[in-house]
Amino acid sequence: MADNFLYFCLFCSFVVLTQSAPEEALVTQLPGFSGTFPSKHYSGYVNVDQNHGKNMFYYFVESERNPSEDALVLWLNGGPGCSSFDGFVYEHGPFNFEAAKANESLPQLHLNPYSWSKVSNIIYLDSPVGVGFSYSKNKSDYETGDVQTAIDTHAFLLKWFELYSEFLPNPFFIAGESYAGVYVPTLSSEVVKGIVAQKKPIPNFKGYLVGNGVADDEFDGNALVPFAHGMGLISDELYEEVNSECKGNFYILLSETCESKLEKVEKNIKDLNIYDILEPCYHAPETLENTDIKIRLPSSFRKLGETNRPLAVRTRMFGRAWPLRAPVRDGIVPTWPQLLDAESVPCTDDTVATQWLNDPAVRKAIHAEEETAIGKWELCTDKILYDHDAGSMIVYHKNLTSGGYRALIYSGDHDMCVPFTGSQAWTRSIGYEIVDEWRPWMSNGQVAGYLQGYANNLTFLTIKGAGHTVPEYKPEEALDFYSRFLAGKAI
Ligand SMILES: *[C@@H]1O[C@H](CO)[C@@H](O)[C@H](O)[C@H]1NC(C)=O
Ligand SMILES: *[C@@H]1O[C@H](CO)[C@@H](O)[C@H](O)[C@H]1NC(C)=O
Ligand SMILES: *[C@@H]1O[C@H](CO)[C@@H](O)[C@H](O)[C@H]1NC(C)=O
Ligand SMILES: *[C@@H]1O[C@H](CO)[C@@H](O)[C@H](O)[C@H]1NC(C)=O
Repeated sequence: MADNFLYFCLFCSFVVLTQSAPEEALVTQLPGFSGTFPSKHYSGYVNVDQNHGKNMFYYFVESERNPSEDALVLWLNGGPGCSSFDGFVYEHGPFNFEAAKANESLPQLHLNPYSWSKVSNIIYLDSPVGVGFSYSKNKSDYETGDVQTAIDTHAFLLKWFELYSEFLPNPFFIAGESYAGVYVPTLSSEVVKGIVAQKKPIPNFKGYLVGNGVADDEFDGNALVPFAHGMGLISDELYEEVNSECKGNFYILLSETCESKLEKVEKNIKDLNIYDILEPCYHAPETLENTDIKIRLPSSFRKLGETNRPLAVRTRMFGRAWPLRAPVRDGIVPTWPQLLDAESVPCTDDTVATQWLNDPAVRKAIHAEEETAIGKWELCTDKILYDHDAGSMIVYHKNLTSGGYRALIYSGDHDMCVPFTGSQAWTRSIGYEIVDEWRPWMSNGQVAGYLQGYANNLTFLTIKGAGHTVPEYKPEEALDFYSRFLAGKAI
């Protein structure tokens, strides 16, 4: 509609500014919240493939500051298989969710003073289809991978920008966490290809952010042992032994002795909360009863991961150890529920999100399909079968940063799932000149972490004391580095 209007009215874009966003997507109230929205919220589906009925769900929060000038950010959680409502509910969304009391049927929503919508327009997208509220009418779409996912999310973006064309001039960034360490650079690369080909609409793409993201099997695979040693989780003796037996290579296991030393490492760390070694591990009632972890993967699926490497590292991955000793490798990446005979992600309490997002009134309010049509909302689903088919992300990062796009690679430094040691090593390995030498960065008058700035606007940054999902642990510090990065300021 806006496009047609623009066609006839080249000089009155101010009218388009107020009329473009689809009215039917406006969220007018949310169960559990009794206040006034600080900005406009929209949500709904974008169809990316008519024939297949492939529908991607987004929730869009306008900036609470200046929607027409502030950056626009697409946010993606990882998994693969995890919904971006993880970010919305637990990390940097506009609300803090308070668990329902005994006399209440729903969690209570309070405004989040550190919401990323304080300084940016932000789209939370459930991707690929099969995840969160996104779905396809053709179930064959649930078998997917990196390449297809990037193509679909790019198709989503182009359609989204058609609907919300007033946001085309805003500086645009892509951000995500964990396995979105793959989604973000692969999608950014699709976006850049589209820009080069002048494929309309053309977003004002500026750069990207990755938090505790997977990037490269070798760097990520070698990250855990130095992390465990540096954090005081293993002894000096064991560190020396494992290094000499494995020759500093914990990625491809070369010998039985190396293997047995790594088992000792694992024994020391396996009961920690891998998402934040300082936090207790939450045990859901059902997992307490079932301490014997079994595997729910069908045997045909398990075969897909087989390898010719000297030791059967891949099969070992389907045990308690993943992802402690088996980072994301080429091939099928099992989702948490597929890996463990458990409904939920280990150590993680997702009750509030699960309760709120499955409430029929909430689903209605946010224009999500009913449970009878697409099933229950789950934090991380086992509906999809996902192939890591894009290889190492390092070449993507090189291409994007040398093409003038800004990149912030940040790590909560107490995360053991994707430890900062891997991100630190691969960013350094790119070999760019250091332009801002390792230094503390400040938030609220305190050291909030450390950073190293490289040429081509590549920055590696840690957040002191944060786990895997940085804004969940350090909301104020996270909003600080986020807003400085978007503004192009020194952090
Ligand atoms: C539930 O009980 C608490 C006190 O225990 C009270 O403050 C609150 O208003 C009650 N909520 C409802 C919905 O009745
Ligand atoms: C689903 O998609 C696949 C691949 O395009 C196609 O072969 C199949 O016929 C489709 N199934 C249905 C029910 O449309
Ligand atoms: C990186 O850039 C080179 C040269 O422009 C290109 O051939 C290659 O396909 C790009 N790779 C990726 C992963 O974008
Ligand atoms: C780095 O980013 C700034 C701010 O966006 C920009 O002005 C500058 O040209 C970029 N530098 C490089 C080398 O891309």
